[in-house]
Amino acid sequence: MKLLVCGGAGFIGSNFVRIRTRDHGDEVVVLDKLTYAGRRENLEDLDVRLIVGGIEDPDAVAEAAEGAGAIVNFAAETHVDRSISEPEAFITTHGMGTYVLLEEARRRGLRYVQVSTDEVYGSIEEGSFTEQSPLNPSSPYSASKAGADLLVASYRHTYGLEALICRGSNNYGPYQYPEKLIPLMVLNALHDDKLPVYGDGRQVRNWIYVEDFARGIGTVLERGEPGEVYNVGGPDEAPNLDVVRKIIEYTGKDESLIEYVTDRPGHDRRYSLASDKVCGLGWEAQVRFAEGLERTVDWYRENTAWWEPIRSGEYRAYYERQYGRALG
Ligand code: NAD
Ligand code: DAU
Repeated sequence: MKLLVCGGAGFIGSNFVRIRTRDHGDEVVVLDKLTYAGRRENLEDLDVRLIVGGIEDPDAVAEAAEGAGAIVNFAAETHVDRSISEPEAFITTHGMGTYVLLEEARRRGLRYVQVSTDEVYGSIEEGSFTEQSPLNPSSPYSASKAGADLLVASYRHTYGLEALICRGSNNYGPYQYPEKLIPLMVLNALHDDKLPVYGDGRQVRNWIYVEDFARGIGTVLERGEPGEVYNVGGPDEAPNLDVVRKIIEYTGKDESLIEYVTDRPGHDRRYSLASDKVCGLGWEAQVRFAEGLERTVDWYRENTAWWEPIRSGEYRAYYERQYGRALG
């Protein structure tokens, strides 16, 4: 298959491209704007063509889509905290960007997979969200992702586009930018920096190892029914504090590193996805959280060359703005 993968230089996109080129022999063109989260290094071991450009740029999209059989769209602004402090790029990329991609897919008659998130459903105290659950997003991140999902659905309904939506739960694993909970806590622990836990730390997330999510998207791409939404959730849920304590254990550090900080505004309490529908296509998660987390800690410990330039660059300034203190 020849794929256009948008946002393929980011965390999940690069893991997806690695699996598709290695295990499925796909030919891949990546279109990526290389924002702070997108990195050439994430693709350097792979034989893919990288076009640097925004999905909101029709010329870049037209060039990248030449000869493609399908588009898989990962391109997004993905950090909830940044969407609260600086929402504009979220609206441009998720709104205008998704629209430009859909127009290109329509013009060429391409199959289109939108990578989305469990956050579009909002927070759930008990039980799990199914694909029928109403959309009830909380943050500028999730609201703009929900808007993109609705636009995708409208292109199916109105123009008959072969469009599908894949909603994932919280991913973790190699190549994740350290603004997110797990890599942030791993790198801080390795440096003996404080571990900033928001609020009471009892918020629950439904963790999925990134390769499991990437395979789930591949399953939807190959076998999903056009017009359908597929939830792809992980096998385990955990309160944030338990995750942080495990990281402390795996890095051989001490709980005195934990620091309770001001909660995220509008913080969702719990996410949980029911994934029976994608399991019906033959997918299942293979990596349990305890094993995947240990693997992830090892990856960050062994790949200093990957995160050192990040931790000494833009991320330092971001960290000071967000947490009101400098990294050590
Ligand atoms: P990421 O931030 O690591 O990567 C995003 C990539 O998109 C980067 O390479 C960035 O350069 C690129 N990008 C941003 N704006 C762009 C634009 N306008 N044009 C082209 N490229 C652009 O994010 P991620 O965690 O890999 O997430 C990928 C997708 O998966 C997103 O759509 C996200 O909403 C979704 N998702 C993420 C998670 C998670 O836990 N990380 C869970 C479910 C769904
Ligand atoms: O659920 C899927 C979503 O998961 C994706 O759509 C998003 O792109 C991705 O960023 C992620 O969103 P979260 O907000 O759940 O992830 P984050 O890693 O930012 O935070 C996870 C939990 O940890 C959340 O309850 C907030 C908390 N947290 C996070 C950070 C960065 C802290 O307590 N301290 C922190 O410093």
